[in-house]
Amino acid sequence: MLVEDQLFCYMENMQVPEVLLNSMKYSLKAGGKRLRPILVLATLNSFGKQEDIGLPVACAIEMIHTYSLIHDDLPSMDNDDFRRGKPTNHKVYGEAMAILAGDALLTYSFEVMEDLVTKGIPANTIVSLVMEMAKAAGPTGMVGGQVADMEGEGRSLTLAELEYIHRNKTGKLLGYSIHAGAVLANATKAQQEILKEFSDHIGLAFQIRDDILDIEGEAEKIGKPIGSDTINDKVTYPSLLTMDGAKEKLNYHILEAKRLLENLPLESDLLFQLCDLIAKRDH
Ligand code: IPE
Ligand code: IPE
Ligand code: MG
Ligand code: MG
Ligand code: MG
Repeated sequence: MLVEDQLFCYMENMQVPEVLLNSMKYSLKAGGKRLRPILVLATLNSFGKQEDIGLPVACAIEMIHTYSLIHDDLPSMDNDDFRRGKPTNHKVYGEAMAILAGDALLTYSFEVMEDLVTKGIPANTIVSLVMEMAKAAGPTGMVGGQVADMEGEGRSLTLAELEYIHRNKTGKLLGYSIHAGAVLANATKAQQEILKEFSDHIGLAFQIRDDILDIEGEAEKIGKPIGSDTINDKVTYPSLLTMDGAKEKLNYHILEAKRLLENLPLESDLLFQLCDLIAKRDH
C-alpha cells in the first residue's frame, strides 16, 4: 500500500539513537487502520486527482495520530496496556522513551511536510497546510480535546460538553485529513465548506463508534482493551444517551454526512464507502 511504503521510507536512514527509532517504528508499524491517510487520498481520488501528491500530508497526519495514541495510553492518561494488538509503547520501552517517541513523531511530522515541495505544491499552499495541521493537533484542536476529556473524568457532562471533547480530540485531525485532500485537489472554497461540515459529522460519528466499541467491541478485533472508559470514569455517548441513543446519534451523523456529499461533484464514491465503514467498523 502506498501509505505503508511511504511511511517507512520516511523512517529509513534517520540518524537518531537506535532505541528512539525502534520505539517510533514499534508504534507506527503496529498496524493501525490508517483511516486518516485514507481520508486524504480518498478525497483526492474523489476529485479525480493523483493520490500520491497527498502522501507527505497523509504520513505526517499518521505520525501525529500515532504520537497521540502513545501519549493517550500512558499511565498518567488512560493507562492502557494494549494498542493495535500489541503491548503499548511504554510497556515495551518505558514511560520516558514512550514520551520521547511521541514527541519525536510529532515534530518529525512537520519535517515530512517539506516533502510536498517534491510534489510540486506551491510554497504558500504548503505554509497554510502546515499551519492548519498545527491548529488541528494543538491546543485549539486535539490537545485541547484531550485536556477536556481528562478534566471530564468522574464528572457529569452535558451533551454539548461531550461534543466539544469529541470534536476536538478526534474530529479536528480527521477533519484536517479531508481538508488537506481538498486543498491539494484544488477544491473551491464552497466545496471546502461542504467538506468541513461533512468532516464534522464524520468526526463525531467516528468517536461515537469508538465509545460504543469500548463497551461492545471484542478486544482481539480492536486491538485495545474493552472497558477503558468505564474504568477511567469517562462520560461517553453510550453513558450519556444509553447505547440505543448513541447508535441513533451515530446513524444521524452518518446520514447527514452522506447528504452533504451529494452536493459535491465527486468522481468516485470512496467517501460514501468510508461513511459506511466508519458506521459499521468492528475495529
Ligand atoms: C483511535 O483511533 C483513537 C481515536 C481517536 C478514537 P483509531 O481507531 O483510528 O486507531 P488506529 O489508528 O486504527 O489504531
Ligand atoms: C483518544 O481517545 C483520542 C486521541 C487523541 C488519542 P480515546 O482515549 O477514546 O482513544 P482510545 O479508545 O484509547 O483509542
Ligand atoms: Mg483517551
Ligand atoms: Mg484511550
Ligand atoms: Mg476510546
